[in-house]
Amino acid sequence: MKNFPFTFGIDVTSAQLEHYDNHIRRRLSSMVGYYSDQQAFARQLAKEDSLLYEVYETRRPEVAGELLNGLSVVHPGKVGDEYFMTKGHFHSVLETGEVYYCLKGEGAMVMETPEGDWSVEELRPGRVLYVPPRWAHRSVNIGANEDLVTFFVYPGHAGHDYGTIEKFGFRKLLVEREGKPQVIDNPRWRAQSV
Ligand code: F6R
Ligand code: ZN
Repeated sequence: MKNFPFTFGIDVTSAQLEHYDNHIRRRLSSMVGYYSDQQAFARQLAKEDSLLYEVYETRRPEVAGELLNGLSVVHPGKVGDEYFMTKGHFHSVLETGEVYYCLKGEGAMVMETPEGDWSVEELRPGRVLYVPPRWAHRSVNIGANEDLVTFFVYPGHAGHDYGTIEKFGFRKLLVEREGKPQVIDNPRWRAQSV
């Protein structure tokens, strides 16, 4: 890989990268156990293995000093009353943060620390979100029809710990109640923590 400065464009109207090296697609079938309403999940999956979110990456070495970056695109939709969302993760090197810049859509980042703090921050075009070290993060699309598109940057050596969230979930869920997004306690998280 050439170690020279480079530029690339993001088409602001379509919120797409001009160039990327890697494209990850996450479908409903890869999210077993992530959604609260397991019956709704099973019903939906029996109908269609929908595409929930995609990640476009510019490849860089995964080492300290590098900055990994790309676009995250969460499509609109719900499983039961829970909005389409990313799996969410801690960084394996817990002491690494991340910056997100929202380009399109309407959403939120659900976050928490191993110490028990939690936060839900709004994402809309033009907003920058700073995720400090130690905070697990999950993007949620609360828009009815539009993709939620964010540009992210994080340290090359951060790594991803999906296991903790896969097992216990986040403390808070973002669900639709009477047509509006609402943050609620995750009942399954409580059960597992007892
Ligand atoms: C990288 C990062 C994002 C996410 C992306 C998909 O550290 O936070 O690039 O990887 O939004 O979410 P996950 O990785 O949770 O499936
Ligand atoms: Zn991350």
